[in-house]
Amino acid sequence: MTINWSKEWELGIPVIDSQHKRIVDFINQIAEQGEDRDAIENVLTELKDYTSSHFAFEESLMEEAGYGFVKAHSRVHVLFIRRIDDYWKEFKNGNDISSELVKTLESWLFNHIKHDDQDYSGTVKANLNAATEKAKEKEKKKSWFGKLFG
Ligand SMILES: [Fe+2]
Repeated sequence: MTINWSKEWELGIPVIDSQHKRIVDFINQIAEQGEDRDAIENVLTELKDYTSSHFAFEESLMEEAGYGFVKAHSRVHVLFIRRIDDYWKEFKNGNDISSELVKTLESWLFNHIKHDDQDYSGTVKANLNAATEKAKEKEKKKSWFGKLFG
């Protein structure tokens, strides 16, 4: 069983949505590997790396936006990575963890996106929009300046 991305999981922050989709791709890849332990190991490694940097990225966006619950949110991220690590260890001990991992990842991820991520999305979106507006203003000024004094 693989997961089909659904619109309802979108936060409306394109960069974050595409990262979440990528994580879903990794989960699906694990589901599709069957018994191929080398392949599972590769995807697991990628999933862990990718998810860690995605979390760091999310945290930096939240911080920049002055979101009030960054610490609590980060703690949830840490716990999640720890969970992946536990699966990793179990896998390394020779256990077949894929189907349980896929189930856990799926329910955790969507729960997290729908609640925790949804919670920061308004603040982060507003901040990103403000930054874009500022950049546009700057560009406008620059081109004005260029025309007058260039
Ligand atoms: Fe998150």
